[in-house]
Amino acid sequence: MEKFEKMNEAIEDPTSVLIVDDEPEILSVIQEMLEGENYRLLPAYSVEEARSVLHRENINIVLTDLLLGDGSGTDILEEARRIHPDSLTIFMTGRPTIQNAIKLIKQGACDYLAKPFGLETLKMTLKKASEIIKLERENIRLKEMMSFYRVSEAMGTAIELDQLLKLILDTAIEEFEADKASVYFFHESDGKIELKASVDNTDDSIKNAACEHCFFVSMKVIDRKEASLYNERDPDFASDEESIRSSICQPLMAKGKVLGALVVVRIKNAHYFTQGQLTGLGLLASKAAGAIENSTLYDNLKESYIATVQVLANAIEARDEYTRGHTERVFHLSEILAKELRWGEKQLGDLKMGGLLHDIGKIGVPDSILNKPGALSAEEFEIMKKHPETGAHMVESIPFLKQAIPYILYHHERHDGTGYPRRLRGNDIPYPGRLLAVVDTLDAITSDRPYRGGRSLPEAIEEIKENSGSQFHPEVVNACVRAYESGKLDHLFENKKKVERDLLVEAV
Ligand SMILES: [Fe+2]
Repeated sequence: MEKFEKMNEAIEDPTSVLIVDDEPEILSVIQEMLEGENYRLLPAYSVEEARSVLHRENINIVLTDLLLGDGSGTDILEEARRIHPDSLTIFMTGRPTIQNAIKLIKQGACDYLAKPFGLETLKMTLKKASEIIKLERENIRLKEMMSFYRVSEAMGTAIELDQLLKLILDTAIEEFEADKASVYFFHESDGKIELKASVDNTDDSIKNAACEHCFFVSMKVIDRKEASLYNERDPDFASDEESIRSSICQPLMAKGKVLGALVVVRIKNAHYFTQGQLTGLGLLASKAAGAIENSTLYDNLKESYIATVQVLANAIEARDEYTRGHTERVFHLSEILAKELRWGEKQLGDLKMGGLLHDIGKIGVPDSILNKPGALSAEEFEIMKKHPETGAHMVESIPFLKQAIPYILYHHERHDGTGYPRRLRGNDIPYPGRLLAVVDTLDAITSDRPYRGGRSLPEAIEEIKENSGSQFHPEVVNACVRAYESGKLDHLFENKKKVERDLLVEAV
């Protein structure tokens, strides 16, 4: 909000007018004419002097004589358009021919005044230019508000941090007509900065130099906790590369702490960034900082939830004396098969939670059934069969755990449609269920039970293969066989024997 207020203040500032004429009397007369009007007047007597003012000051309107002692007013127009792309130039000329006027307008002039001109003509011309500037500013503000709104909307939908940062960077590139935008994170513990996200539309030849520039600018901004606007003419512009023109950078601040920096660079675009654009970038930076802060809080909360869930899962295992260590093994086996099936990062993350929680519904199964040494009766089996739905029901109201539901709910479905609880068939069974069905069974076959000893890994694999297409999805069976044949399962089963021996010793 503070940033908005600052931006509004900047918009209400008096219009800055650079007046250039090599005749001091004319300059004085114009200044006198405009006295009392809401203009900030900056005089210059030559092209050279005008250039220096353009570099030093934020200029909105240039009022220049066409012919000057050391050059032409069109040189000033070009420089003004490059440094202050939103500025407007009005020419004053003693030779007001139609051809001259057309030529000047074509070169980018906003208007021209035929010398000599009266007070009213001057006031009207400047007023017209000020109105155009005001409208353009309002247009820019509206566009910035739209971007701000878009980013705010996205934040409201609680999308992942990476997606939100990408949206912020894309918005920055589009709104500020830039070629590269990056977000750096600052790690307070070691004082280092890390590139977190970047959108880069630069050519290969310039990529390294652009990255270095962004890094140095961000370091400075993080260090000073202050926004920066650089252009290639600044003595401390952090690049020797000629094609890097200008950059704006804002620190990402939350509760007085610097979390990182948002930097935007122009390469192909020859215009320098303006102070207004630096302020606009501040709005996006505040959104990025808010998102990072929320995400950190979210991650901490998620971690504490997982820790609680782990305790819960362990508590269930402790009740079920025949399947001790099962959850842990299911997780490792699932991960191996999921990688074999080329699952993405996100699915692998969900798998961790799904593997941990898949039997959480057993909390509702009485000890007498859970630890029954023999086969279950029909009624007992009906109670046992409820555990997937009980488990899904337990986690459905916890947003962090929702991704575990397909693992919990579908791990006892069978490929031929005779499983439980939903009797889904073939490809109707979600991937997590298909995967976990194989893994769960593989671990069960190889585990000792009071009424039978655990079988060896090769025997278990044979049994899995025999049930491909009936109990299990063939794709998952193939992945399991491939993992087994390439020796990826061996270490898990060697460890398993050892763990079981240790447990036996403990029990004795
Ligand atoms: Fe189960």
